[in-house]
Amino acid sequence: MNAHSDAVAAVAPDDGIAPGELLMDVRNVSLRFGGVKAITDISFDVRKGEIRAIIGPNGAGKTSMLNVINGFYTPQEGTITFRGKQRRAMKPHHAVRQGIARTFQNVALFKGMSTLDNIMAGRSVLMKRNLFWQMLWHGPALQEEIAHRRVVEEIIDFLEIQHIRRTPVGKLPYGLQKRVELGRALAMEPSLLLLDEPMAGMNLEEKEDMSRFIIEVNRQRGTTIALIEHDMGVVMDLSDRVVVLDYGKKIADGPPEAVKSNQQVIDAYLGVAH
Ligand SMILES: Nc1ncnc2c1ncn2[C@@H]1O[C@H](COP(=O)(O)OP(=O)(O)O)[C@@H](O)[C@H]1O
Ligand SMILES: [Mg+2]
Repeated sequence: MNAHSDAVAAVAPDDGIAPGELLMDVRNVSLRFGGVKAITDISFDVRKGEIRAIIGPNGAGKTSMLNVINGFYTPQEGTITFRGKQRRAMKPHHAVRQGIARTFQNVALFKGMSTLDNIMAGRSVLMKRNLFWQMLWHGPALQEEIAHRRVVEEIIDFLEIQHIRRTPVGKLPYGLQKRVELGRALAMEPSLLLLDEPMAGMNLEEKEDMSRFIIEVNRQRGTTIALIEHDMGVVMDLSDRVVVLDYGKKIADGPPEAVKSNQQVIDAYLGVAH
């Protein structure tokens, strides 16, 4: 029986890991593009239920790190252990099935499609029955479709985007596009949600909205979140622990207050114009 087929609400699936326990362990990961060392020997962990921030100046290797975690790149060295399973190479759709979903630094939605269809597209990776099944046995496929619709509608309510459900996302202001993209990731019911600069390019009000949704996703759904963010105020407000990268290396790791007063971190930020 597909665990998702009769789901009525999109929540983080029960992954058998208790809050505060190790969800993901990144160990000695290095990633090079030709001569460019994007990531050098980085290790850090993510605990179940936390909001983990990844910060650092432009070019520090933050996006590359997310790309390794979700299987987009295979590191030359190191391992990722997620929910107790160690791996080195993996494809993004496998990551989704294991419970890792993400949003992108530059919004990646189907611009001509509606909000509803974009979020439904996120859901489709979890759909079990394909066209063959639909033709052979209409009943179960239809039931599954209805269950998926319900989850998507629930996400639309949660993110307060009912009024744009039929609007092509290309027509939406940027802040709402980012929210729809969050909705698509939530539709995958991730146990680990990766957000690459979810507030970049937003005005203050949009940032406050997005902060609120991130906190609610974490608190109400129990979803563990790893997010990249430039706005230090946001990072300090949202995150439980912060890992700081600079030139592909980890320079600090700890609670926001400790990281904020770390001299190496201050130097890294002062040395680079944003
Ligand atoms: N696909 C790629 N090919 C070559 N170099 C890349 C690629 N992706 C990232 N890089 C390089 O790796 C470094 C880290 O980039 P990135 O992870 O995007 O940093 P950040 O997200 O912290 O700004 C940069 O020097 C960047 O130019
Ligand atoms: Mg980046």
